[in-house]
Amino acid sequence: MIDVKDLHVSFNDNHVLKGLTTLIEEQQATVIIGRSGIGKSVFLRSLCGLITPQKGTILIDEEDITNCSRKKMLKIRNKIGMLFQEGALFDSLTVYDNVAFPLTYHKLMDRAAIDKKVRKYLELVEMQNFLEAMPSELSGGMKRKVAIARTMILEPKYLFYDEPTSGLDPYSAAIVEIMIKKLQEELNITSLIVTHDIDLTNFIGDSIALLEDGFIIEKTSKVEAFKKNSLIYEHFIKKRERIQQVNGY
Ligand SMILES: Nc1ncnc2c1ncn2[C@@H]1O[C@H](COP(=O)(O)OP(=O)(O)O)[C@@H](O)[C@H]1O
Ligand SMILES: [Mg+2]
Repeated sequence: MIDVKDLHVSFNDNHVLKGLTTLIEEQQATVIIGRSGIGKSVFLRSLCGLITPQKGTILIDEEDITNCSRKKMLKIRNKIGMLFQEGALFDSLTVYDNVAFPLTYHKLMDRAAIDKKVRKYLELVEMQNFLEAMPSELSGGMKRKVAIARTMILEPKYLFYDEPTSGLDPYSAAIVEIMIKKLQEELNITSLIVTHDIDLTNFIGDSIALLEDGFIIEKTSKVEAFKKNSLIYEHFIKKRERIQQVNGY
């Protein structure tokens, strides 16, 4: 479980997170939704120890990562897989070598064992027929799937996704959405997804939290979140409908 309390992160005068408190339950997909520039990536980077908050605690399996030794931090980091917003593959490596990279880089196991895992995770994301392809030969959705396999291969307990569907056409986005849901159902991992994509939220979120003005201002089940008087409805769905109306659509 991830237990965040009173998290503050600022960059000079820019106070981005202002006392964010939330609990991320295990074996669920939690979606944190919020508009661009609100601090979603900053929050995820804080959870990975890439940003040091000015104040607050982040307990990951009861270990406070804001106040622990480097050795403990590395141990906790190994439980986390992160799919960055940019999610870039290495252009000069094949699909196979991209996915093998975390294991070959860390020299964690022999070649036969690595081979087995690479094939397993590429199969899981339905990319087993593209082992020797170069990233330049793949569509945006396929690249994202390979990036997901590369993250999965270290078998993290927690998987964080930063805007997994951003920049994709609707067809590729749908493929990635289905993949995330499938991984969630088959592996029962704990996923945390930050996004401003309401379709993605609706499709994969078990629980939905709204980040606004430095806080999680609402966290509910998906059913509640999509009800007409919820804050999430007010902030995302209704605003979109209003803009459409104002513009005569
Ligand atoms: N490394 C950084 N240095 C300075 N400002 C940053 C840094 N990272 C993020 N910010 C600022 O924090 C705010 C939130 O950014 P971000 O978390 O990327 O938003 P988003 O919700 O779109 O992911 C923005 O104002 C951004 O400019
Ligand atoms: Mg972001």
